[in-house]
Amino acid sequence: MTDNANGTHGAILQDKAPNDGGAIVELRGTGKSYGNVRALHGVDLKVFPSHVTCVLGDNGAGKSTLIKIISGLHQHTEGDLLVDGDPVRFSSPRDALDKGIATVYQDLATVPLMPVWRNFFLGSEMTKGPWPVRRLDIAKMKETADRELRNMGIILDDLERPIGTLSGGQRQCVAIARAVYFGARVLILDEPTAALGVKQSGVVLKYVAAARDRGLGVIFITHNPHHAYMVGDHFSVLRLGTLELSADRSEVGLEELTNHMAGGAELAALKHELAQVRGVDTEELPEEDDLTAPVATAPEGKS
Ligand SMILES: Nc1ncnc2c1ncn2[C@@H]1O[C@H](COP(=O)(O)OP(=O)(O)O)[C@@H](O)[C@H]1O
Ligand SMILES: [Mg+2]
Repeated sequence: MTDNANGTHGAILQDKAPNDGGAIVELRGTGKSYGNVRALHGVDLKVFPSHVTCVLGDNGAGKSTLIKIISGLHQHTEGDLLVDGDPVRFSSPRDALDKGIATVYQDLATVPLMPVWRNFFLGSEMTKGPWPVRRLDIAKMKETADRELRNMGIILDDLERPIGTLSGGQRQCVAIARAVYFGARVLILDEPTAALGVKQSGVVLKYVAAARDRGLGVIFITHNPHHAYMVGDHFSVLRLGTLELSADRSEVGLEELTNHMAGGAELAALKHELAQVRGVDTEELPEEDDLTAPVATAPEGKS
């Protein structure tokens, strides 16, 4: 294990800098079928360093399928997946990790009864001493985990605590700091705020921004447009497996994004029906006229 000045493994970050500020990861017309179920079709997406790309969509829209392709869990069945401009086909999450693509899953792969520091190094433990008497370097792991968490602004009073006793938000933060430490260039977060309250969500969003500020390209999956809009540079909305909207922050406002997420036209039709039912207040639902927001699909174009 090598520590550089800022305490992270800089090797991957430095050796594999993307060509002329281009996308680290790109999907081009990418799709995936599970047997005869087409879960994803014709999706274009780019992930840039120091940018947060939000992928939004209702349940079943294809969000998890999309990140499973990028994280090496599933292979795409149409289009291309490019890393640093080169087409790739991952056969396992290890392949994706080797390219610096780290994924924090909703159910967090942690061992609840193990201490925080131990979870920080799970699967990549630090050791000391010559073979065959190598043993875990516990002091170094504790010290490093403590420093790395602090570097990200995460203050935990006791790293000996079983990670299972931390709040969901704190565990997400530890997972983000871990990915940063191990040199991730792309960080994929699958609905990190879905099960959290308002305050904890805010804390997680802060570390999403911290990871971005460290130069990572972040893919932030959520069905909450408010959370997306707090940190997002680009917004891709999936509906039934295809891109319904792909727009930079300058091209779309929170209200419009919310309408896209709410399923604009469907909601308006529903409003019309609900208006005929007594006791249902439809004031807050959008009018059909408000839902004619421009759809900017893949504004960057394909190159
Ligand atoms: N392993 C699978 N086998 C068959 N169908 C699947 C599988 N995974 C997802 N699907 C289907 O693909 C569609 C998209 O699912 P998913 O990517 O999980 O959406 P989301 O994460 O946005 O809720 C859904 O219709 C879902 O039922
Ligand atoms: Mg999902």
